[in-house]
Amino acid sequence: GNSRQRQLIELHEKANELFHHLLVRTKAGVEALDYLLERGLTMELIEEFQIGFAPNERQFLVQVFENEAYDSELMKESGLFVQRDGGTFVDRFYQRIMFPIRNAQGKTIGFSGRLLKTEKFPGTDQPKYLNSPETELFNKRLVLFNFDKARSTIRKEGEVFLFEGFMDVIAAWQAGIKNGIASMGTSLTNQQLSAIERVTKELVICYDGDSAGIEATNRAIELLNENSRLHLSVVSVPEGRDPDEYLRKYGEEAFKELALHGRETVFTFKMRYHRVNRNLQNEKEQLDYIQDLLQELVSVASPIEQDMYLTQLSTEFQVSRESLQEQLRSLKQESR
Ligand code: UTP
Ligand code: MN
Ligand code: MN
Ligand code: MN
Ligand code: MN
Repeated sequence: GNSRQRQLIELHEKANELFHHLLVRTKAGVEALDYLLERGLTMELIEEFQIGFAPNERQFLVQVFENEAYDSELMKESGLFVQRDGGTFVDRFYQRIMFPIRNAQGKTIGFSGRLLKTEKFPGTDQPKYLNSPETELFNKRLVLFNFDKARSTIRKEGEVFLFEGFMDVIAAWQAGIKNGIASMGTSLTNQQLSAIERVTKELVICYDGDSAGIEATNRAIELLNENSRLHLSVVSVPEGRDPDEYLRKYGEEAFKELALHGRETVFTFKMRYHRVNRNLQNEKEQLDYIQDLLQELVSVASPIEQDMYLTQLSTEFQVSRESLQEQLRSLKQESR
């Protein structure tokens, strides 16, 4: 890139080093470090992901950079600061655990900061995660957390895991699943999809098991069906947990078992998805359910899969295969 971009990267790399140093080597980072270790992270992981801490000071980074006589235009453009009415810079991130976000070349181009709540700093009405704003370097629609580090494993394993959160990517890494990535708390974009498609055709969605995660999974499936040729499967984390919580509760082996052998096809996910908030004892809701699933079957390309699901539906609801098949045929005609 041009020299301004290089300088912006330098600013981020420097900030990252400072945040990381503060977390692992100073008193200012003790509470944050305890929190992370308490959650089950190790020093090794903290090093691996260069996690840091931005202290509860409004001008920590400002002072460092002003002392080093960085250009104020550059500081403004970096997104690391916010300008107050009078024009003074203050730090955007404070009292947050800092996750550096890297580009494909492994250079830090932005941050996501997780609020560290303490007795002295309850942080009410502050968002749990705060991301860098859009800058010349940092394009939220393109960037994927951990993609730089995961790429070689994605190639080797021939597949990629998509998680909702950074902590899930890190937990998976701890369990030896190093081909995990996450988007920046937004839904997946076409730009991210094409970046993924250049490395693999096999995507495993492993979002949180709560209702927000299930909805997000469904949206991701719809987006992928329309815009990509990726082959999809789904890992549903039980008990409404997220992958990180599941690993902490049941251990690394159980997590690996779930992620590697607990996959379901998109249609099996849909069978559960359309059940949510439905009482299948009720005749009308049962009919609606079957209708929704037949609609989903229209986009199942494999005849063998279709056959399998028709048999499942027919058995579960004691409807003849013939009538299901006929209904499916007419739905297919409508969708042409
Ligand atoms: P979650 O609320 O599930 O957070 O949001 P998490 O990853 O499990 O974090 P922990 O375990 O509480 O520390 C999932 C993702 O959504 C984005 C972040 O990228 C987060 O990792 N998010 C969430 C935001 O961008 N802002 C928020 O305020 C909350
Ligand atoms: Mn270190
Ligand atoms: Mn969530
Ligand atoms: Mn979560
Ligand atoms: Mn979590």
